Amino acid sequence: TNTSTAMAFNHSLALLLSLWATAGCDFFVEGVLQLECRDRYFMIAVDLAATGDVPRFEAVDGTGTYAITEDYAAKCGYSISILSLLGLVELRASYFSCHTEKTLFQGAGFSFRFNLITTYEGVDAYYALNKTCSSPLPWSPREVTCEVNYMEVSVRSELPCQSGSSDDSSTLGPLYSPSTEVWQVTFQNPYQQLPPMNLSQARQEGYIFDHVHDRIVFRTPYGQPESYHTEVTGVPVEVVHATVFSRQSWVVVMVDLIAACSMDEGSYDSGYMIWGTPEALYPSLGTTQISFGLNGNLVEQAAVVQKGFIMERYNSTVQIGIPYDAEGGYRKSFVSDCLSEFYIFNLYLKQTSVDERHEETVLWFHRTLVTPLLSSPLFTEDQTDVDNGTFSIHLGKVPRDVELTSVQLNGQEFAVPFSDSIAYTLTEVRHSNKSHSYTLKVPLHDPIVIQEFSKENAAMLHKLDINYTLIVKPGDEPYYHTFSVTARMAVSPPSFDVVCTESGIDFKLAYRSFDYLWDFTIGSDRLTPVLAANHGYTMSNDSQSLLLSVPLFTHGYKYKDIGLNGFLGTFSILVRDRETADILTSTTKTCLFNATEFIMCSTNGWMTVVVDLSAVLPSGEMPTRFHLLNNFCVPKAVDGTRVLFSFPLHSCGSTVKLAKENVTYQNKIYLDTSENAVEGFNPPTPHRMTVQCTYPLVGLHRLFSIH
Ligand SMILES: *[C@@H]1O[C@H](CO)[C@@H](O)[C@H](O)[C@H]1NC(C)=O
Ligand SMILES: *[C@@H]1O[C@H](CO)[C@@H](O)[C@H](O)[C@H]1NC(C)=O
Ligand SMILES: *[C@@H]1O[C@H](CO)[C@@H](O)[C@H](O)[C@H]1NC(C)=O
Ligand SMILES: *[C@@H]1O[C@H](CO)[C@@H](O)[C@H](O)[C@H]1NC(C)=O
Ligand SMILES: *[C@@H]1O[C@H](CO)[C@@H](O)[C@H](O)[C@H]1NC(C)=O
Ligand SMILES: *[C@@H]1O[C@H](CO)[C@@H](O)[C@H](O)[C@H]1NC(C)=O
Ligand SMILES: *[C@@H]1O[C@H](CO)[C@@H](O)[C@H](O)[C@H]1NC(C)=O
Ligand SMILES: *[C@@H]1O[C@H](CO)[C@@H](O)[C@H](O)[C@H]1NC(C)=O
Ligand SMILES: *[C@@H]1O[C@H](CO)[C@@H](O)[C@H](O)[C@H]1NC(C)=O
Repeated sequence: TNTSTAMAFNHSLALLLSLWATAGCDFFVEGVLQLECRDRYFMIAVDLAATGDVPRFEAVDGTGTYAITEDYAAKCGYSISILSLLGLVELRASYFSCHTEKTLFQGAGFSFRFNLITTYEGVDAYYALNKTCSSPLPWSPREVTCEVNYMEVSVRSELPCQSGSSDDSSTLGPLYSPSTEVWQVTFQNPYQQLPPMNLSQARQEGYIFDHVHDRIVFRTPYGQPESYHTEVTGVPVEVVHATVFSRQSWVVVMVDLIAACSMDEGSYDSGYMIWGTPEALYPSLGTTQISFGLNGNLVEQAAVVQKGFIMERYNSTVQIGIPYDAEGGYRKSFVSDCLSEFYIFNLYLKQTSVDERHEETVLWFHRTLVTPLLSSPLFTEDQTDVDNGTFSIHLGKVPRDVELTSVQLNGQEFAVPFSDSIAYTLTEVRHSNKSHSYTLKVPLHDPIVIQEFSKENAAMLHKLDINYTLIVKPGDEPYYHTFSVTARMAVSPPSFDVVCTESGIDFKLAYRSFDYLWDFTIGSDRLTPVLAANHGYTMSNDSQSLLLSVPLFTHGYKYKDIGLNGFLGTFSILVRDRETADILTSTTKTCLFNATEFIMCSTNGWMTVVVDLSAVLPSGEMPTRFHLLNNFCVPKAVDGTRVLFSFPLHSCGSTVKLAKENVTYQNKIYLDTSENAVEGFNPPTPHRMTVQCTYPLVGLHRLFSIH
């Protein structure tokens, strides 16, 4: 043994030196590579980012180098896990793996040597790694490892025929040595016992029997022809039952090696990944002792509850519950019909049982548990405040491995990040829980926004259809998330700005975008350029505004409080629903017109006139009485030489002159003076003023037909 160790050392040293020459040593920067001795295995973890492709491994011992292929790993006690979510490759080697070298350094030590092979531009680079793990945790009489790719049992060898020799290993002889044909193995299952074979035959079948320090080791990959599947307390279990025996003269030595592992793949229930193993996979007095954790770490009993793990026992089964978001689990987004996610847990569990002879069995489980696809809905919220004039849409709960790459707004695509030249903004917030969120802002009045009027809401609807393109990283599979928002901007019918002028009223409306929704009418007549021209209004109408000047005494006025000091004139513009003609609102303006003289020829058949007669009064005379052609028709008000008459057109002696296109009513205002009164004899020359109203016949015959 000593010679072979020395040879191996030299060999590996030579190899190492040659590698150093070619590969350089910058690869082993801090953190890229981890070599660790764990309770029951040696671990190498390599950062994938540093190696590029997934690296390969070779096991090295004094006899040569051995590529660790999938089959070879399962047979020889190696497990390689590619933890791509962590960017790691992990190699676990059993202390009893084929190429472990046993050293007596500091007690029972285990020496590991590996070559790590990376390929860069088609050229392989070799890195020699070595470590010696001394005195791991003391071994129990029986230890079982349920690795991801193999089962391994080791038992303390207590062979009775120790003939006084102090050298254990020579007494027993290495089990795998070709010189020990005496050792045979037989496999059995509940249905049959298979014929015995020698150990080299068994090795060919994939089984390895070994003797390391003072333990007998048996290892088998899963799914061997000699294995069988059964259910123990409802949990699926795979078992390989091997019995090795040796006939040495009249003594038959037999060792029972049973590898049994729970094959539960785990299930997902209400936020927990559930995994179970029978309480009594191996004979047990009472309950077994359980400790477990993730990624090769056993959690302290007290921390189990604090980390949210669950452990329950029922029906002789131990059930472990791992919360979906447990620390140490790995999460990945996935696009199926919707955005989904799944979680991966590397469960590590130690189960210790004691049988009736107080012999301890320890089971070590390595299990990779994967949840089914869980829906991982995004959260979209419309945070628009119309007063801000901007759509504000929040897209939250975006998982850390999902990126927003573009946004379609009403069918038009914009790459993320937005260019500075567009009026929209997108802000990203990264949260401490590693999810992130985006807030999109688009002005309500942007041309990309669809605007339409809604009668039932009496509002302008601003509509935006958003189609987010999200990419799950790594990879380029897109996920489309759509969201439609509508902002309602209440619209009121317009009202005009109005000013009184000396000769009429001016109306002005500055158009808003939706003011085409209404009709404007004067009474029941729709305001059009033709109507305005017919009635003598002045109208101008462009895209910006509507201006309407309504001169006094034109159609549509109403007059009140007519007196010597003027009158009130009122004009209304009605705003009507274009379809139903319902009056929605109106703008009515009343102005005081204080002209000193005026005549109103009203269409309701009255003539009202305020006039200053001083022009027809001889100087120095004072008027004593005013009347019309009909003597009895007197003014309603008099102020010196100013009078107010208001009388029906057809009375007070008015004369009517009918012309081809118009009709004229005429009357005269007479004033008697003090001089006339004093003389009294000759009929005085009356002072008078003619007043008349002429109406166009067109359109008035309706009003006058009654006369
Ligand atoms: C083991 O690796 C170390 C470097 O980590 C090296 O110095 C040593 O020579 C190696 N030993 C063997 C036996 O290869
Ligand atoms: C093991 O058994 C096989 C088949 O019976 C035989 O050919 C082989 O020689 C045996 N090996 C040893 C080392 O006895
Ligand atoms: C325990 O096992 C019995 C019989 O196998 C079964 O009916 C019962 O549902 C099990 N209990 C639980 C909690 O699974
Ligand atoms: C909207 O405006 C108010 C103040 O006018 C401001 O406090 C608020 O933050 C704005 N909201 C958004 C989403 O911009
Ligand atoms: C992450 O945190 C943010 C902000 O506290 C929260 O809005 C969001 O819902 C959280 N995401 C998840 C997936 O819980
Ligand atoms: C969102 O955009 C994608 C890519 O253009 C398109 O295939 C998908 O139909 C869109 N979704 C909706 C609802 O418009
Ligand atoms: C003003 O012009 C617009 C556009 O040409 C037209 O739709 C509207 O009817 C006009 N308004 C009036 C009162 O003529
Ligand atoms: C009419 O009223 C205006 C404003 O009240 C005043 O400035 C003006 O002098 C008045 N005109 C007459 C003729 O009284
Ligand atoms: C009335 O009509 C006649 C011709 O029919 C016309 O000469 C006259 O000017 C018109 N008068 C008014 C005040 O329009």
